[in-house]
Amino acid sequence: MKIAIVGATGEVGRMMISCLEEFDVPVERLELFASARSAGSTLYFQDTALVVKELTDSSLQDPFDYVLYSAGAGVARSFAPLATAAGSVVIDNSSGFRQDALIPLVVPEINGRLLENYRGIISNPNCSTIQMVLPLAVLNRLFGLRKVVVSTYQSVSGSGHQGILTLEAQRAGSGDNGIYPKLIDLNLIPQIGAFNDDGYSQEEEKMHFETRRILEIPELEISATTVRVPVYYGHSESIHAEFETQTDPALAAEALKDAESIVFEENSYITPRELGNSNASHVCRLRQGANKNSLSFWNLGHNIRLGAASNAVRIMLKHAELAGIS
Ligand SMILES: NC(=O)c1ccc[n+]([C@@H]2O[C@H](COP(=O)([O-])OP(=O)(O)OC[C@H]3O[C@@H](n4cnc5c(N)ncnc54)[C@H](OP(=O)(O)O)[C@@H]3O)[C@@H](O)[C@H]2O)c1
Repeated sequence: MKIAIVGATGEVGRMMISCLEEFDVPVERLELFASARSAGSTLYFQDTALVVKELTDSSLQDPFDYVLYSAGAGVARSFAPLATAAGSVVIDNSSGFRQDALIPLVVPEINGRLLENYRGIISNPNCSTIQMVLPLAVLNRLFGLRKVVVSTYQSVSGSGHQGILTLEAQRAGSGDNGIYPKLIDLNLIPQIGAFNDDGYSQEEEKMHFETRRILEIPELEISATTVRVPVYYGHSESIHAEFETQTDPALAAEALKDAESIVFEENSYITPRELGNSNASHVCRLRQGANKNSLSFWNLGHNIRLGAASNAVRIMLKHAELAGIS
């Protein structure tokens, strides 16, 4: 496959390179792009040194099989259409196209069928949404999902590399807020993105919209509270879900154990520091919720892997399988 990564020097871009290696993607040609700031720097793919190039209007005029974008919504909106016009399929990690009804928003294990006979831009969902919808899709098939109340505990790498630098500086003694509205070290911040008029933050709004869209339940009642915590990698979520029918935690556990890309932590839990290289959504502490029709659980995912790079590579592999691209 001929692949380009835009935003290759960032947290997600670097992980995309690792995922290409880990998933044994048959790469025939790989080109890496970023801004002028890091053009000329070197990154490695399978021990081969690759020089990062500056993204310009002409960078993507020759078609690639896939262009993986992880450079923010502004770059994606300006440059992704140039890549698709040249004939490449684009997989974008930003929020730039997620609300566009004509652009599929894909978690392959749930709605990979949307990729069939599709060429153009494909949106990768928000990180905190991907890890949550994987188990919710399984439970929805069993009991019919009606309502979700979720609180998140999101790591600083979710804000990109600057988030990590901000926490590192504060841990070393800096009193500068960095990229956050308040100090994040030894603290937590119940705001991710600007607040809308309805009181929800942009991150919360993304979780509401994207969960309804991916699960294809437009009438789903959902309320998210998203919180930034002083953890480097890994997002955690407390999820309370209500269903049309009476639930059965034992039946739910069996289905979750069998589900693709889910690790069910029986009678136990893991923490962000134990996620390692996991590309799965971890379901822990599954139990009956506030009534017979509900379930509560604790959910973990690696935001740079499952929440971004590995979901993007899985989208690419699913699309390639359906389109016969090798
Ligand atoms: N971090 C997460 O958990 C996560 C999860 C899901 C989705 N995402 C999304 O993925 C994207 C990247 O996130 P990240 O965490 O990797 O951010 P990051 O660490 O800040 O990296 C940003 C990347 O974008 C590049 N870039 C910035 N402006 C550019 C321009 N004008 N032209 C070309 N490249 C440009 C940067 O290149 P330079 O090195 O040249 O600055 C860098 O490679 C964002 O859209 C983000 O919302 C992130």
